[in-house]
Amino acid sequence: MSVDVILGLQWGDEGKGKIVDFLAPNYDIVARFQGGPNAGHTLKFDNQKFVLHTVPSGIFRDNQLNIIGNGVVIDPITLAREIKGLEQVNVHVEGRLLVAKKAHLILPTHRFLDAASENAKGVAKIGSTLKGIGPTYMDKTGRNGLRVGDLNAPDFLEKYNSLKQKHLKLLSIYPTIDFDLATEEEKWLRDVQLLKSLPQVDCEYYLNEALKQGKRILAEGAQGSMLDIDYGTYPFVTSSNTITAGVCIGLGVPPSKIGEVIGISKAYCTRVGSGPFPTELNGEIGEFLRREGAEFGATTGRPRRCGWLDLPQLRYTCMVNGVTQLVVTKIDVMDKLEQIGVATAYRVGSDTTDLLPYDITADNLEPIYEHHPGWQQPLDDITDFDHFPAPLKTYLEKIEEGLGVPITMVSTGPERRKLITREKAEVA
Ligand code: GDP
Ligand code: IMO
Ligand code: MG
Repeated sequence: MSVDVILGLQWGDEGKGKIVDFLAPNYDIVARFQGGPNAGHTLKFDNQKFVLHTVPSGIFRDNQLNIIGNGVVIDPITLAREIKGLEQVNVHVEGRLLVAKKAHLILPTHRFLDAASENAKGVAKIGSTLKGIGPTYMDKTGRNGLRVGDLNAPDFLEKYNSLKQKHLKLLSIYPTIDFDLATEEEKWLRDVQLLKSLPQVDCEYYLNEALKQGKRILAEGAQGSMLDIDYGTYPFVTSSNTITAGVCIGLGVPPSKIGEVIGISKAYCTRVGSGPFPTELNGEIGEFLRREGAEFGATTGRPRRCGWLDLPQLRYTCMVNGVTQLVVTKIDVMDKLEQIGVATAYRVGSDTTDLLPYDITADNLEPIYEHHPGWQQPLDDITDFDHFPAPLKTYLEKIEEGLGVPITMVSTGPERRKLITREKAEVA
């Protein structure tokens, strides 16, 4: 058996949560492999809406185990809040949510450091979600971090205090910010008890054994490939590897076990936070996409920047991820548009290229667009790919041809059932 992967091909918020929730019944285990509560994955069904930050998006299905893998960074406070929220809607995590011992912990002081670092950057700020992601991964690679497995150690509190003291020293080098350590620490130490009560696993042994037993595993990505620490628009990125290679690191499964790589792209493009965005639309159409697509962050509520689909950007992320199937989401948001733009190449100085340059700025790169007629009709009653209006089919074909990857699913609304599948994507 292999590990199938679902991940975002743009700057996050592509609709990963919805697709993972939809496909979860085809799998035995759903595993998050990187990121942390900077993620906000929205699921909608039965007229209810849920946003998950750390818990994998298979949790609403009855028969799936959900694993928070070792590549994830966990804030016990947000995790406890999430688990309590799930309990309120009668979703119980007992026996269905496992945590990797090697996953790192986000301390309150990691969050303060995130805020102090962003504050010090001024206009050059990343636009972080301020969940402590960067400082926690820094402690991981700096070999100072605290891990879930440490919760069981007799000297856990000493370890915690020593890391906290280090953070307080670090905070003193930044311009002062407001924080309430006593309150946050109290909550953290309380919520650590809930985290401690979850079954802890050696994720790498657990998942490799599951594969041997023929279990089907779905790896759920957070953020998007353009936010990858190595291959994204550095430094305006997150601090983890969001691409397929991150699955092997974040779950301890070998590359030879990766199966289908299901890449998700919106029918247009969004980004939240700072950094380059070649096809951004600042005028009326950008505003239209934000309004029709309800493009406001699921974690921070910030308005998302909106623009046209960018084929060179998607070709790049299909390449680094080895995408085998493409899912196009939020197609319904474009129903009323007369014309739809797609960037097919870039003008860089006097050259034309379809490769992403090392350094992207608004001044050095100009997208070259093709415009396609819109379909200008609602898609509500359509349940079959073949019944899509001709201009929509042409738009989807353009994307498939441009990327060389088959589209196997098209999402036509936020609800679970609003998904049109074909071929490879058979659902149980
Ligand atoms: P994720 O982080 O990739 O899981 O995506 P988010 O949940 O942050 O953002 C996607 C948003 O789009 C959520 O509000 C979803 O409910 C919504 N959504 C997902 N698919 C569709 C779709 O096909 N059409 C529309 N209109 N909304 C969608
Ligand atoms: P999901 O999983 C969209 C962005 C932030 C910021 C940058 C760094 O819901 O798609 P960080 O908090 O990681 O230090 O922020 O990355 N970012 C996201 N944007 N969706 C996300 O997650 C994101 N997680 C982080 O806005 O620009
Ligand atoms: Mg999101």
